[in-house]
Amino acid sequence: MNNILELTNVTKEYKNGSKVLAAVKDLNYSLKEGEDVAIVGPSGSGKSTLLNLIGGLDRPTKGQIVINGQDLSKLNDKQLSIFRNQTIGFVFQFFNLQEYLMAYENVMIPLLFAGVNWKKARERAISLLENVGLANRIEYYPRQLSGGEMQRVAVARSLANNPKILLADEPTANLDKESAQSVLKLFKEINTKGVSLIVITHDQNVSKEFSHVVQIDNGELSISKSNKK
Ligand SMILES: Nc1ncnc2c1ncn2[C@@H]1O[C@H](COP(=O)(O)OP(=O)(O)OP(=O)(O)O)[C@@H](O)[C@H]1O
Ligand SMILES: [Mg+2]
Repeated sequence: MNNILELTNVTKEYKNGSKVLAAVKDLNYSLKEGEDVAIVGPSGSGKSTLLNLIGGLDRPTKGQIVINGQDLSKLNDKQLSIFRNQTIGFVFQFFNLQEYLMAYENVMIPLLFAGVNWKKARERAISLLENVGLANRIEYYPRQLSGGEMQRVAVARSLANNPKILLADEPTANLDKESAQSVLKLFKEINTKGVSLIVITHDQNVSKEFSHVVQIDNGELSISKSNKK
């Protein structure tokens, strides 16, 4: 299997006045296509920083990030946003839905960005929402949805352009147990279809469901283990 992700000596530094803080330090890691990994670690250890780098939402200070064979540093900002749109799905802790758009319109955004026409984008958005169990919530605004429903809209949106890899930053942290389970189940189904999965979580009930677990401490990868399936 090819690697979906390769990190080589990846460092991210933040400058605060004269102080430099390395949030991610010289990290090396690779993940094979179709595999799933949970990232765990204490608050402030660099998990979100790392995921944002992998997701192309931010650039490393040093090192190389290769996703699906593409070195992200070789892409300018415009090319990177196109690459993200085509290859990477991202699910945020606080859903990041557009509040003035209905559920299906939120899901349409990445499709329209990809150049899909309005009618086709609408059809696909509706079918994606049906797949996450929201057939009866298509025309609801985010404020009319529960947390679990909002996160399922966000998952549907992340899958709009059939990403090769799905990244999620504490996707179940703001959900009740039942909604968290349903989102987790959704991720597993997506992974079964061959989409690689990287999920940050504080919850051991979530991380134990993954084939691999990576622990980050103080910006460094401290433990990487495989769970038996
Ligand atoms: N934009 C920024 N500017 C300066 N420092 C930052 C910035 N973003 C993050 N940091 C620092 O980098 C470190 C890692 O932050 P990060 O958000 O990656 O942690 P985390 O592991 O995701 O924590 P949490 O579990 O609380 O979400 C923290 O010490 C944080 O203060
Ligand atoms: Mg975080």
